Amino acid sequence: MDLVDKVAIVTGGAMGIGFATCEALAAQGAAIVIADLKGAAAAAEKLRARGYKAAHADIDVSVEDDSHRMAEATLKAFGRIDILVNNAAIYSALSLKPFEQLTVTDWRKMLDVNVIGQFLCCKAVLPTFKKQGSGRIINISSGVAFKGNPGMLHYVASKGAIVSMTRTLATELGEHGVLVNSVAPGFTLSDGVHQNPELAKTVSGFSVRNRALKRDMVPADVVGAVTFFAGPHAAFITGQTLVVDGGAYYH
Ligand SMILES: NC(=O)c1ccc[n+]([C@@H]2O[C@H](COP(=O)([O-])OP(=O)(O)OC[C@H]3O[C@@H](n4cnc5c(N)ncnc54)[C@H](O)[C@@H]3O)[C@@H](O)[C@H]2O)c1
Repeated sequence: MDLVDKVAIVTGGAMGIGFATCEALAAQGAAIVIADLKGAAAAAEKLRARGYKAAHADIDVSVEDDSHRMAEATLKAFGRIDILVNNAAIYSALSLKPFEQLTVTDWRKMLDVNVIGQFLCCKAVLPTFKKQGSGRIINISSGVAFKGNPGMLHYVASKGAIVSMTRTLATELGEHGVLVNSVAPGFTLSDGVHQNPELAKTVSGFSVRNRALKRDMVPADVVGAVTFFAGPHAAFITGQTLVVDGGAYYH
């Protein structure tokens, strides 16, 4: 119970890796705010039904006003913000395309959600973190940023940007007691992936073959790294990216 009295926001927390993260942080004692485009209220209700403290915000991370509403809703519900997990992204609904078929519209949408969305959510919680003199930001990147997987150039680039953003934010925010780290999962059978048979079929067998630990990865495999970065044992670690992929890429 390392996170008793802490308050965590998880973007994209209504399902998949995000919801598993909410469960893990709540199990460590944190109060949770689930911030998502859809399903946030029902997911928060699921946590409350299990005796955890949870609230929600219906937001689009790429909309600046929404990011402020997320921070305000958290302060209203629990009075502080200690942890931001930037997990929301366009991923599982992707159709794989050779790069020359990608359009500028595809790129702009991807960068709006996956990169600017994380930027806006960091910006929205920063005044509270500064006031408190502490805060943890955990940005979800992806192993694809290091491996350069084909068929999703704009997604891979967006996740590479998260690694760079994590380093720069860590450098800028250290003086305020804010620690910024990133977790880069390998291919994970999340709820969203289960809903996209093309992605599941194309990537699953390949991923298992190419990792040291020969099994599918599930959302529960990711959450230990996130709770570690959120908790007291990571108090002197910042700017780092931890690849969690069963031994496919050694970062
Ligand atoms: N599943 C994988 O194989 C895998 C691998 C590496 C990294 N990741 C990353 O992990 C994170 C979660 O992945 P997942 O597979 O659980 O995803 P998912 O598709 O199962 O869930 C994503 C969640 O984000 C929400 N969301 C999407 N756009 C949003 C927006 N604009 N505003 C607010 N919420 C939004 C969705 O509603 C959903 O609840 C993502 O950042 C993804 O890029 C996933």
